[in-house]
Amino acid sequence: MDQYIIRGGATLHGEVEISGAKNAAVAIIPAALLVKGVCRIENIPQISDTDTLLTILTQLGARVSYLSKSTIEIDCTDTRYQDAPYDLMRKIRASYYLIGSMLGRFGSAKTTMPGGCNFGVRPIDQHIKGMRALGAEISVKNGFVYADAIDGRLHGARVYLDKVSVGATMNIMIAAVLAEGRTIIENAAREPHIVDLANFLNSMGADVRGAGTDTIKINGVEELHGGTYTIIPDQIEAGTYMVAAAATGGEVLIKNIIPKHMEGISAKLRETGTVIEEFEEALLVKGPTSLRRINLKTMPYPGFPTDMQPQFGVLLCLANGTSVITEGIYDNRFKYVNELRKMGAEIQVDGRVAVIDGGRRLTGAPVHACDLRAGAAMVIAGMVASGVTEIDDIHFIERGYERFVEKLNALGADIQVHYDEEESASARAFSIS
Ligand code: EPZ
Repeated sequence: MDQYIIRGGATLHGEVEISGAKNAAVAIIPAALLVKGVCRIENIPQISDTDTLLTILTQLGARVSYLSKSTIEIDCTDTRYQDAPYDLMRKIRASYYLIGSMLGRFGSAKTTMPGGCNFGVRPIDQHIKGMRALGAEISVKNGFVYADAIDGRLHGARVYLDKVSVGATMNIMIAAVLAEGRTIIENAAREPHIVDLANFLNSMGADVRGAGTDTIKINGVEELHGGTYTIIPDQIEAGTYMVAAAATGGEVLIKNIIPKHMEGISAKLRETGTVIEEFEEALLVKGPTSLRRINLKTMPYPGFPTDMQPQFGVLLCLANGTSVITEGIYDNRFKYVNELRKMGAEIQVDGRVAVIDGGRRLTGAPVHACDLRAGAAMVIAGMVASGVTEIDDIHFIERGYERFVEKLNALGADIQVHYDEEESASARAFSIS
């Protein structure tokens, strides 16, 4: 089993450069399928989710070339409708964006039900509602999603989302940009990556307005042309390093960020006594000598992001007093609590509420990464714990964090990556400096 082996007691100091936003990239790459031309996309994060999507696009006939580690060109000029690699689609949640992009480009789509992190039930009923409103016949059979534009091409529609959904908002936007006529998405999600997708599509000739508000208007166009686009920095990667700095009592300059996107995270961190100095494209985070307890509720943007909840769960184990976290988005995003209990944490969970009895010293232990953000949280726990922590299932973490161990070790962490011989055919225990 591939593992991170973390020696605790680190205090992080230095600078870290934030990479491109995962949740923007995993929508923008499938959306490139709509474009009859070359899309040059900069600041792509080097993570396994983007690799998976680029492989899927290649197997759909796209020509993908890497101009550098973070700049690619995707040419879908001659891409034709064909069966997609379903085994790859099942691996990630963002494969659902191929419903919108294949429908928009070809008038037909066959994908698998999406995979991704397991936080309880994660339906796609709002995606299906949107595609039907745009004139698609869509059904789910044997784990596959089948969709066909009844008239061969989608038409504009007014769609009210019963639930604020990032994925459904972006998927309907993707499907609507080549539809005939005007689409209005109401009760839309407002995350920064939704604005980023709209800006990408508009730079390729689409007409999307209102992204970032709860009402998005899209005037369908006949065709999209190639162009160049740079993905925004990752709000959640940045927040993860902010929490790591606060938890270890260090001082870290988080570079290449958009401070406006960090407001919900910065506000709650400041409540713990963490000092945050804001610059134009950076934040300087100084961990306090002792952390204050807080209450926290995750909500759609601009509220506090659910993808930062596990990281704060670890931080609040260290804070003096009792903190309460309410998970406002998912049914079951506290699986990491069992792993923290192995390290000495005292946390009671009742449904969507966790009560954290803080002020405790965590101790190193063998733990699992239950999902992407929970895995990142366990790395933070390992860094602050006394002794050694071994984290397995690290593939979850590597889905969403570019060069995570390298960046943390450069800040003073002591993390070794151990590749299991059976798994990677070559044992490599090395400390990434
Ligand atoms: C996206 O997931 C992100 N993933 C998630 O990030 C993030 O947690 C989530 O948005 C919320 O911000 C990607 O962008 C690839 P939703 P998504 O649709 O689109 C319910 C990470 O760590 N819902 O906004 O799946 C759903 O069950 C990942 O980077 C429906 O009921 O989230 C959830 O309770 C984890 N029906 C709520 O809405 C639907 O059709 C919000 O889900 C769709 C969603």
